[in-house]
Amino acid sequence: MSDNSVKNRIDVLTKEIREADVHYYQNNMPRLSDSDYDKLRQELISLEKNNPDLVLENSPTKSVGAKASNKFGKIKHSIPMLSLDNAFNDADVFDFCSRVKKFLSVSNDFHLLFTSEPKIDGLSASLRYEKGHLISGATRGDGAIGEDVTANLSTIVNIPLILKGSDWPDVIEVRGEVYISHKDFIDMNSKQLSLGKDIYKNPRNAAAGSLRQIDSNITAQRPLKFFAYTWGESSNLPASTQIEFMKLFSKWGFQVNPELRLHSNPQKMIDHYKKIANTRSDLGYDIDGVVYKVNDLLLQKRLGSVTRAPRWAIAHKFPAEKANTTLHKIDIQVGRTGALTPVARLEPITVGGVVVSNATLHNEDELERLNVKPGDVVEVQRAGDVIPQVVRLIKSNDGPKFDMPKVCPVCGSMATRDIDPVTGKMDAVRRCTNGFNCSAQTIERIKHFVSRKAFDIDGLGAKQIEFFYKNKLINEPADIFSLEERNKLIGLNSFEGWGTTSVNNLFLAINEKRTIEFSRLLFALGIRHIGQGNSVIIGRHYLSWSKMLSSLRAAKDYTGELWDDLLSIDGMGNAAATSLVNFFNEPLNINIVNNLLSFIVVQDTLEPSINSKISGKIIVFTGKFEKFSRDEAKSQAQLLGAKVSGSVSAKTSFVIYGPGAGSKYKKARELGITIMSEDEWIEFLN
Ligand code: IVH
Repeated sequence: MSDNSVKNRIDVLTKEIREADVHYYQNNMPRLSDSDYDKLRQELISLEKNNPDLVLENSPTKSVGAKASNKFGKIKHSIPMLSLDNAFNDADVFDFCSRVKKFLSVSNDFHLLFTSEPKIDGLSASLRYEKGHLISGATRGDGAIGEDVTANLSTIVNIPLILKGSDWPDVIEVRGEVYISHKDFIDMNSKQLSLGKDIYKNPRNAAAGSLRQIDSNITAQRPLKFFAYTWGESSNLPASTQIEFMKLFSKWGFQVNPELRLHSNPQKMIDHYKKIANTRSDLGYDIDGVVYKVNDLLLQKRLGSVTRAPRWAIAHKFPAEKANTTLHKIDIQVGRTGALTPVARLEPITVGGVVVSNATLHNEDELERLNVKPGDVVEVQRAGDVIPQVVRLIKSNDGPKFDMPKVCPVCGSMATRDIDPVTGKMDAVRRCTNGFNCSAQTIERIKHFVSRKAFDIDGLGAKQIEFFYKNKLINEPADIFSLEERNKLIGLNSFEGWGTTSVNNLFLAINEKRTIEFSRLLFALGIRHIGQGNSVIIGRHYLSWSKMLSSLRAAKDYTGELWDDLLSIDGMGNAAATSLVNFFNEPLNINIVNNLLSFIVVQDTLEPSINSKISGKIIVFTGKFEKFSRDEAKSQAQLLGAKVSGSVSAKTSFVIYGPGAGSKYKKARELGITIMSEDEWIEFLN
């Protein structure tokens, strides 16, 4: 090739790669397959290598090129980023206030202050400052681990790189919401339109897309803003109330919400909520409710949190947005537990700023209750991130009634409804009875296995799982981990849509997960009734995977010491215990788990490293308490590293009793277990 034609080719390649990058990163809509993109880049790289004097100064191989990895580093939050419980009506707000008082064991007329502030509809971020300098910034991720978006967060104008003043803790993590204002959102979309590009669905999506740009120069051009509203790690507590802390944020250079207020009772909180709801559209940014928080930080600390949300705060949500539209068709989806879910295919309609064309009809009972069929006009609603749902029939048509199929639409096996042995009531959900032989269930199980809160394997999403399953490359979890070895025969990069880079990245991502924590593995197996919360408490109880397995096998007849031990786990219900025992005593499941375990290492749950008199001890609380509520006593013991159990056995370390204690107290005496009254307990813990 002559110098001139090489130069022309470099120009063409540069232009094509640039355009592909814009589609991929800016519009979140790839134009080229990974392999076509890789080919263009490889060609450009080799031309540049052989013609160093023709390399353009702003060649895409120099900058965005590195982003082919499409990855951010991970940051483990030193203190988890929790979510919030929701209140949907006035009664829920009253309940929240009395729950807080009950937990703190104070009377209902105790003077307790709550803050209220708008709940911003953006995405949360955590900013770590050391000696006043911004060190790192992360997204929330799954709450425990987020993505390192430091460079992108640094571009946001109202995030200070250096804190103002000097009264900040040496280490302080400032947390809040990244958002885009209405005005900026409109400007952003008209810019998109004038460039002939797709527009963003809503400010929240635009903010999320902008924050997750690989190239922070692009983020810098986006009108992102930040409201500070809470904190994570703090080397010392610089304030004694929520309000004082917010004033400090403002002093250090952050924007805090001007609608922050203090209230002395639930009625005043609700009145303020109504005021905010009425002026919502004038605020200039999207909010989806009002957040209430206990103002006193000592009380916040005493209240602590349950697995995913603090006890000292609640989000009072705005009612869901609704609209009417035509239901065209009802499809049946089969989930990982075999549940048949009717899904409404709708005439697309905008609900609360988002176009909705599918909505769930939940299950057979709900479908019956709604009495809707294709051709009817229905009301749909959408609240926050929740899947849109059909709420009621607006106008019916003459067509025939829609009947739920009695066989699985995917594998053709019988689909039945369980009868609860205790209540004799029929389950609302119809399920395919074909278990592992139903391809829909298998695919959904594997999708769940790799999902964010489970194995969290980057680059292995729904689309890829379907591809691997259809091509008989992945049939069960173990196959994910043998894929790289088998690839010598498979030659993945010759398949449509797979380039060398994406195949290599996939193997890297899989290999990162060859060591996995106990509770993640348990959750990933997708056992009925064993969600994230239960997986964590089961992990904390058994500590080691092998101990759990041997205990569950010994409990296979739902009797004996180890069955009682399982039921005694605080927060464990009968349905979950039964489901867990059934799962690990079913040969097919045992096989699937054993296959998997030959490729991965399970990290046992760490004993809480807390060094206290009661760490590792098993404690039972019984009767009524006077100095603090039973819930607070439990939560405090757990924070000190003890396990709280609901029943007394030979393994119980202490039984703490209050007035009204009965059989548990008696049993403890018989077994010779150390028994303490509330006062003795307080003195013992000092
Ligand atoms: S406080 C311990 N305050 O809502 C949790 N959260 O649905 C402290 N959010 O994950 C959160 N506005 O991302 C708090 N004024 C506000 C908020 C707010 C929006 C988000 C936050 C949280 C989610 C929970």
